[in-house]
Amino acid sequence: MSFLMDTYKRLPVSFVRGEGVYLYDEEGKRYLDLVGGVAVNVLGHSDPDLVRALCEQAHKLWHVSNLYQNPWQEETAKLLVEQFGEPAKVFFCNSGAEANEGAIKLARRYFWEKGEKRYRIITFKNSFHGRTFGAMSATAQEKIHKGFEPLLDGFDYAELNDIKSVERLLRKETAGIMLEVIQGEGGINEAEGEFLVKVEELCRREGLLLIVDEVQTGLGRTGKFYGYQHFGIKPDIITLAKGLGGGFPIGCVIAREEVAQAFKPGSHGSTFGGNALACACAKVVIEKVLKLLDHVEEVGNYFKERLRPFGRVKGRGLMLGLEREENCQEVVLKALERGLLINCTAERVIRFVPPLIIQKEHVDFAIEVLREIL
Ligand SMILES: Cc1ncc(COP(=O)(O)O)c(C=O)c1O
Repeated sequence: MSFLMDTYKRLPVSFVRGEGVYLYDEEGKRYLDLVGGVAVNVLGHSDPDLVRALCEQAHKLWHVSNLYQNPWQEETAKLLVEQFGEPAKVFFCNSGAEANEGAIKLARRYFWEKGEKRYRIITFKNSFHGRTFGAMSATAQEKIHKGFEPLLDGFDYAELNDIKSVERLLRKETAGIMLEVIQGEGGINEAEGEFLVKVEELCRREGLLLIVDEVQTGLGRTGKFYGYQHFGIKPDIITLAKGLGGGFPIGCVIAREEVAQAFKPGSHGSTFGGNALACACAKVVIEKVLKLLDHVEEVGNYFKERLRPFGRVKGRGLMLGLEREENCQEVVLKALERGLLINCTAERVIRFVPPLIIQKEHVDFAIEVLREIL
């Protein structure tokens, strides 16, 4: 009997300890973790610098309200804005869904401030933006909506990599276009560079905000600090979470300064957002991830090549998907027995979003296990 609501299909294993790229279960069995808390544990488990920063902060101060000055948020925001590359401001929250709620609210508020009645946002089929009402309504997947209708008004769904489908949805109320440069939960579907450039051009031409959900693709996951940086585009708003705290809950919205000014005292907030412990972790994660970018690209390319014999490989850096003909949940279970943690998304895609510190020898182990199973 479980006291927990039945919201997850949990695998029959409990982990008690983690170190680097490995997790250990109650019997002491070791597992190579290529799930990484679903793109969260970017520095692996129990990274000594992260543990030290968290413990030092825990001895000083855990939490004070956002009613007071927050120097730890300032320091973390500065690092994030430096990577954003132009004047911008940051709002801290606790998760990906919340970050996207913040982005949606900011987009609406931006046009409201300008006296324009624009509130609709174009998002993409098979996207995933989170489970809260705004983020769920932005998510264009029926299975996520089922039983929760009516959804929040204001979202129109286009086809990824089809600019005409985006143009067809334009209305005078359209405020922005929101996308993942690689759809994660939707099955590791890559937005094409040419398409992204066209989306950006459309945004500039029509005065729309370009919002990039970097919750899964951010923090070095694809080999650049932010995933959009592969394509030479400049979003107005981006959202982060998952890897940002390396396992400590934290998310944020980053917006160009002109857009960010639409939020005023009282227009948005979060009790825990940018908590001292969370920011202590995020600072270490950002600094360490910046040194891992070349490594992610190198190991990611190696991994991609080694996966090719098993099917169509999608994704970039250490955000990879292997498309199979059949449902891959069985593969996940067989891999688990053999000490390998992988994940199945969109039913037929084996997803790999490991800690960014994995080495080629770990990839080799995973390939051997997959060879046995597949
Ligand atoms: C792209 C993207 N956006 C938003 C979310 C939601 O994040 P959270 O589960 O932290 O609310 C996810 C989670 O998988 C995601 O992949």
